[in-house]
Amino acid sequence: MNQMPRTTISEWKKIADFGTYHHSTHRGSDKIREKVHILFTEVFGDLPFARDDKLKILDVGCGLGFLSCVCAEYYPKAKITGIDTFEHASLKGSSLTKAKNNAVILEFSERIWFQKEDVFSSDYSKGKFNLFVSNLVFHNFGRKRFDAYQRLARWMTPKSYIVLADVFFDYKTDSRRLASHFSNVEERPSSTIGGAYKVLVMSEPKK
Ligand SMILES: C[S@@+](CC[C@H](N)C(=O)[O-])C[C@H]1O[C@@H](n2cnc3c(N)ncnc32)[C@H](O)[C@@H]1O
Repeated sequence: MNQMPRTTISEWKKIADFGTYHHSTHRGSDKIREKVHILFTEVFGDLPFARDDKLKILDVGCGLGFLSCVCAEYYPKAKITGIDTFEHASLKGSSLTKAKNNAVILEFSERIWFQKEDVFSSDYSKGKFNLFVSNLVFHNFGRKRFDAYQRLARWMTPKSYIVLADVFFDYKTDSRRLASHFSNVEERPSSTIGGAYKVLVMSEPKK
């Protein structure tokens, strides 16, 4: 069934709780999410997918499901899987139950599935997902993030895309590593968030 939400993004924070990011307040986190929502919506508009494509999307480190809901809102026929360990200090008080509850409240629960899963032990066949998204996750992995980039590249086909938003404390190193896994790495304008936050679009995984 095609499920359309009755709420808009400005109402989300009144009825759903997407949590408090590390080094932020709850209000500050909501403000970040408003900007992230705009940035991802702009990027989605430039991807070579139609809004009503039946995309399969993986949200890596979904937390309480904020970005999964942004995807569900933008692509009304997409099916989204959100994976998270739900144990990391980068999102206080997070849980699988709370994430599922947010999807129910925002009326996306028929198209979003949350799973307790670690990105380092997950394995997906090529073609299972058309689009991979992630927000504020990979920098938490330290040097292990390079393994995580490689894992994503392995799960992609030549037609799939990654939209990866994160804080890049050493972007020179990350961009070199990313370029070794993807033929296309595009940095999108994201100065509204500030600091080392960047939104990258990757495609064409190298073999
Ligand atoms: C700052 S939160 C961001 C949550 C969400 N993406 C958002 O934008 O609201 C980072 C998330 O990454 C998750 N995470 C950390 N290590 C992970 C791993 N190995 N596999 C999957 N998720 C992980 C944490 O549990 C946390 O929910």
